[in-house]
Amino acid sequence: MPRKLIIDCDPGIDDAVALAMALFDPRLEVVAVTAVAGNVPAERATLNVQAIIEQLDPPRYPRVGAATASDQAPSVNARHIHGDDGLGNAGLQVSQLARQHPSEKLICDEVRAAPGEVTILCLGPLTNIARALSRDPAIAAQMGRLIIMGGAVNCIGNITPSAEFNIFCDPQSAREVFRSPTSKTLVPLDVTGQATFSLGLLEQLPSEFTRAGKLLRKVVPFLFRAYRRELGLESIHIHDAVALVAALHPELFGTHDLAGDVETSGELTTGVTVFDRRESARPRGNIEVALEVDAAAAADCIVRGLADAGKQS
Ligand code: RIB
Ligand code: CA
Repeated sequence: MPRKLIIDCDPGIDDAVALAMALFDPRLEVVAVTAVAGNVPAERATLNVQAIIEQLDPPRYPRVGAATASDQAPSVNARHIHGDDGLGNAGLQVSQLARQHPSEKLICDEVRAAPGEVTILCLGPLTNIARALSRDPAIAAQMGRLIIMGGAVNCIGNITPSAEFNIFCDPQSAREVFRSPTSKTLVPLDVTGQATFSLGLLEQLPSEFTRAGKLLRKVVPFLFRAYRRELGLESIHIHDAVALVAALHPELFGTHDLAGDVETSGELTTGVTVFDRRESARPRGNIEVALEVDAAAAADCIVRGLADAGKQS
């Protein structure tokens, strides 16, 4: 029986890679893809979700949730990494805009429709998850596991010296989700940053004559150029795809039950994920945190997942 999955994302090139893997994986039933502002503003994130799904034309179409801007709109974006349009300036067209519900409503609907069965893969700021929990608090007990790409535990941040981008974009929502009575796994930069991909990845992408290959070959090269220009790196990370691997292959990760929280103020510390590892910590543990990973195996899962997407598209 395929595992029901909601993917909440802010495409974003690495979000697009994770979507290409998930939408063709027979182990998954992606019931919804919900857009959230982060790498790009809300409206652009929604258009990008629609464009990616149209381009991939997967065997089963997920419902699409629309991101809505918030008064706590992210004060940053990641266009310097993902391009002005969030997808490497690939200029993907959207043929028709399906009538979309707000992302948080879709999350509540799908969780209510299958209590305990829906995993939510969070690949952007946690705005929609916090809104869904606020809209319908009872769904906390009905949600399957939240698998969250975000945070930095023992490593440096990527948007400030100590904060990771997804958490930094909406720290208040992240704090609400960390403190919520949900089952959650955090996949922080500590592990997503260990899987690195050299330019050789471009030869391993599916053929341009496949729908998945056509999309990936339009957007992934931009990430290499951005990493070199902005970060001085010759290899890239595909953070969101590693988080998907954590959902599919948890055996590749070492997790620890920690007491986690999020700093929501502070000129230097906003968005920092804080873990109380003292023996006296209360509550003991509210989030499973992945701190170790078989990085080579995770990278191989990503390359194989993309190849499989190519074979089906
Ligand atoms: O810090 C990496 C995360 O921020 C990824 O999800 C990337 O897409 C951006 O959203
Ligand atoms: Ca993302």
